[in-house]
Amino acid sequence: MLIRIAIDGPAGSGKSTMAKIIANKLKINYLDSGALYRIIGYYCVKNNIDLEDKKSIKDILPQIKIDLKDHKYFLNDEEISEQIRNAESGNYASMVAKVPEVREKINQILRTMSQEMSTVIDGRDIGTVVIPDAEIKIFLTASVEERAKRRYDELSEKGKKVDYKSILEQIIFRDKADSSRSIAPLKPAEEAIKINTTNMDIEEVTKKIIEIIKEKNHGN
Ligand code: CDP
Repeated sequence: MLIRIAIDGPAGSGKSTMAKIIANKLKINYLDSGALYRIIGYYCVKNNIDLEDKKSIKDILPQIKIDLKDHKYFLNDEEISEQIRNAESGNYASMVAKVPEVREKINQILRTMSQEMSTVIDGRDIGTVVIPDAEIKIFLTASVEERAKRRYDELSEKGKKVDYKSILEQIIFRDKADSSRSIAPLKPAEEAIKINTTNMDIEEVTKKIIEIIKEKNHGN
C-alpha cells in the first residue's frame, strides 16, 4: 500500500527533523520540498535575477534541472545540498515561492516522486495543494521564539556563526511572507492534525506522530 504523509508548518517547527525520523522508522522515502525552493532561489541569485521580478524568474526556470539522489540535491548535475542550507537561501526561497510557475514546477516533481513510492514530504502546502489526498496530514507549530532558538542551535551545532536576534527577525519575515502570499499560503489543511511542539522534545513528537499513523491505519 502506498502511504503519503504530509508534514506542513512554519520555519523551525520541526518539520524536516520529524519527517526524516518518521521516514527512517517506517523505511519509506523522504522529500524536502523546501530544498527545491531553495535551489531555485539559489540559482536565480547566482544568475543575478532580481527576486522581485517574477517574469525573469519564470523565464529562467527551463534552465533549471533538479535531481535528488540518496538524499543529496543536484542543480544541473552539480551537488548543492550544503550551499542551500544557510539563512539567506531560506529568504531567497521565500521570494521565488511567490511565483506560480515556480510552484507548478516543484509540485510536479513532488507529485511524480511521491507516486512512485511511499513518502513523507515536508513543506508549507503539501496537505493543502501538492497532495490534497495524502493519507496522513500533520501540521506542526511552535512559538516563534522557540522556533528561532531551534534554528539558532541547529546552525551553531554546524559551526556556523549566528545571531539569535537576526534569526528571529528572519523567521518573522518568512512567516509573514509565507502566510500572506495569495498563492498556496501557509495554513493547515482542514483535516490536518495539529501538534504544538513548543514544549515537546523530538521523542515526544515522534511518539505522537507514530500514534496518529497507527490510529489511521487501524481505522482503514
Ligand atoms: O526549513 P525551513 O522551514 O526554514 O525552510 P524550508 O522548508 O526549506 O522552506 C524555505 C522557504 O520555501 C519557505 O519559507 C517557503 O517560502 C518556501 N516553501 C514553500 O513555499 N512551500 C513549500 N512546500 C516549502 C517551502
